[in-house]
Amino acid sequence: MVIKNNISLKDLNTFGMSVVAREFITIESKKDLIAALNTNPSNMLILGGGSNMLLTKDVDALVLHINIKGIKVVSNSENNVRVEVAAGENWHEFVSWCLDKNYGGVENLSLIPGNVGTAPIQNIGAYGVELKDSFVSCQALDVDTKELRTFTKKDCNFGYRNSVFKEELKGQYIITSVIFELSSHQHITKTNYGAIEAELKKNGVVNPTIQDISTAVISIRNSKLPNPKVLGNSGSFFKNPVIAHSKFEIIKEQFPDIPHYIVSDATVKIPAGWLIETAGFKGKKFGSYGVHDKQALVLVNYGNASGKDLLQLSIQIQEAILIIFGIHLESEVNIL
Ligand code: EPU
Repeated sequence: MVIKNNISLKDLNTFGMSVVAREFITIESKKDLIAALNTNPSNMLILGGGSNMLLTKDVDALVLHINIKGIKVVSNSENNVRVEVAAGENWHEFVSWCLDKNYGGVENLSLIPGNVGTAPIQNIGAYGVELKDSFVSCQALDVDTKELRTFTKKDCNFGYRNSVFKEELKGQYIITSVIFELSSHQHITKTNYGAIEAELKKNGVVNPTIQDISTAVISIRNSKLPNPKVLGNSGSFFKNPVIAHSKFEIIKEQFPDIPHYIVSDATVKIPAGWLIETAGFKGKKFGSYGVHDKQALVLVNYGNASGKDLLQLSIQIQEAILIIFGIHLESEVNIL
């Protein structure tokens, strides 16, 4: 186990923020992880794929870069297979592995940046599917006792871009592996998300396979979301806000075309991208950073923006949305 000093994190966060970690260690096994924790660092940052964080300053801590690898089938039944995936596996490479084996359940989550071990923390989701739909359990190490604990789906308390690991157990556990249940035959495909249906139709696909769905999702994502390897970004910067029906009715009087999804009898979800576009920010460029021109929910680093620049822009957007619509936008990205 080697602890390195003053390591640049530029290539390890998808915003491409050029910040330095005081100490840095690559974790390749649970043993490495326990050894690192046994050094009793005063401050730590757990880094997976770096796809959901905005680094606004140098990291005055020991960065644990989780790079534990491995995918294995742990059980088989007539129509399902359970697969255990180590935390450091890249999410999309895992999805591609599933497609190669013809295992269904995660194809709608194609091309999401990040790693498998961080995916449960925010219950990643896209195109009508969330991680929780195929999640069975995960193993995580308690940073204090250094003991491994198994979390069932119920224990994780998944919500919209949320879980117990973002709430009451924040910072307490490090996920080391995740078990998924996938279909091995008779896949149940989910195509009811509008953009997928339209894309399949465009491709002339009537009875889509899981590969067809993945191809459609990849094409939609590529048309809207910038590739972080080309343009620094962290996907959706904000969550889609959920507001009361009564508030929605008031906003609708002024903005009759406001898109919305009914969440419950009492609440409605509004696409934050629409709010930001309507407030006039879509495609706006402020020197080396700005708002993506094809999806207003995505903030981008055009080159050498700092985390503080992007944080400032996010605050400016939040203030505008609050003034225009009376809605508070909550960031989805972790700001550090
Ligand atoms: N819209 C606009 N202008 C924009 C963007 C969106 O008006 O610039 C409106 C349109 O009405 C559109 C609606 O918003 O129909 C929904 O847009 P989209 O399908 O792109 O989805 P989203 O709600 O903006 C969410 C997730 C994405 C995920 C997509 C597809 C959140 C915060 N974001 O975005 O997740 O890919 O749905 O399922 O829930 C991510 O979390 O990083 C992410 C990219």
